[in-house]
Amino acid sequence: ETIPVELHKVRIVQKLHLRPVDERLDAINKGGYNTFLLNTKDVFLDMLTDSGTNAMSDNQVSSMLKADDAYAGSQSFYRMEEALRDVFGKEHILPVHQGRAAENVVSQVFIKPGDIIPMNYHFTTTKAHMELNGGKIFEILTEEGLKIKSNHPFKGNIDIQQLKDLILQYGAEHIPFIRLEASTNLIGGQPFSIQNMREVKAVADEYGIMIVLDASLIGENAWFIKQREEEFKNTSIRDILRMMCGFADIVYFSSRKVSSTRGGGICTNSHELFLKMRDLVPLYEGFLTYGGMSVREIEAMAVGLQETTDETVISQSPSFIEYTVKELDARGIPVITPAGALGCHIDAMSFLEHIPQKEYPAGALAAALYIISGCRGMERGTISSVRNENGEDVLADMELLRLAFPRRVFTLSQTKFLIDRVHWLFENRKLVGGLKFVEEPEVLRFFMGRLAPV
Ligand code: F0G
Repeated sequence: ETIPVELHKVRIVQKLHLRPVDERLDAINKGGYNTFLLNTKDVFLDMLTDSGTNAMSDNQVSSMLKADDAYAGSQSFYRMEEALRDVFGKEHILPVHQGRAAENVVSQVFIKPGDIIPMNYHFTTTKAHMELNGGKIFEILTEEGLKIKSNHPFKGNIDIQQLKDLILQYGAEHIPFIRLEASTNLIGGQPFSIQNMREVKAVADEYGIMIVLDASLIGENAWFIKQREEEFKNTSIRDILRMMCGFADIVYFSSRKVSSTRGGGICTNSHELFLKMRDLVPLYEGFLTYGGMSVREIEAMAVGLQETTDETVISQSPSFIEYTVKELDARGIPVITPAGALGCHIDAMSFLEHIPQKEYPAGALAAALYIISGCRGMERGTISSVRNENGEDVLADMELLRLAFPRRVFTLSQTKFLIDRVHWLFENRKLVGGLKFVEEPEVLRFFMGRLAPV
């Protein structure tokens, strides 16, 4: 057994609550069987997301004290701009309040009705913004990408032949950009390789199409490149990050994931692209030197970006995820392999074979795990999808329960508690029934929707 070791110590703590099971049952009932609608006072291990919940370092917290409050021209912004230039190697920076705000700006500026956007895989908010602007997305992962069990090191890779076919079919003029998502979230935090980026870039250059990189989980993707791509085993994370960003015309990110607890940004080396996007920032976000963030958050973001280049920081979450995936796999529990970034992903479709997909097995598993353990995960399946024009559910490619490992938040004993509870639930899985919607919002329904047992 390889045990992951924490290369940090805990210096500020928060008390957790492990409520009795009848109180948890009551809480999930009140929350419409949707883990987004739970109150954290009823949650033991909050594994909903790593977004805005990664632990901050002593250096990040102390930097927040020197924040320079100003509507315009804040020195905090210039420090963040310097950090982004240094770590991502991009000259022009537009700050935004979080990742989806960057998606709003990029989609509004570059997507016209009828355009198509090829990408390795969608993220929920990305897809919503692109479709809102009349675009249609095409997911062109290689065949490995959607396999639950695999030992392919780079399941986030784009299939180059499919990319060429799409360009020939629709014409480069209808493709504003190709989108690459680092540590591809919805397929289990799976990375792509530098080799794949090179190949995508060659095609993009041939047809004069831009590349947009979603860098929200870029640190972990860089870590996997160092671990899994022979050519880069001796390259520093700093150099790999620079290389990855170098392939993209525009890099955008949710800073809630990449380096701090709030914020986001868009960067580019092209002055022309920068000018095209610039005016939307004061309109939707705030003045160009804060973009809807507090200056304290901007300071933490700058320090966090530098810390992303530290292997002991960036490897922590992947090493705990790998431990959990191996332990669950050894107990016969269906999990996505190889272990990726962000969290451990359980395949709810085979975990709950007796629940048909239209009764939302991943949502049912999320609710059941909460009831029996107090651990809160997130449904990533059909509930997180949308209905088609005829009002029918579009069944998701995968029904996943995601158990996120925010960086440096949980200990190994908490991780072992989780593994033990998931194992108990697996042995008793026939107790779990399906769900149906009782209240269903039209946009991003998974956030606020309410469900009930079938
Ligand atoms: N892109 C990716 C790859 C993401 O994972 C997220 C957020 C966003 C964009 C949007 O960023 O939340 O700052 O607006 N992912 C979170 C998650 C919500 O839980 O996976 P945001």
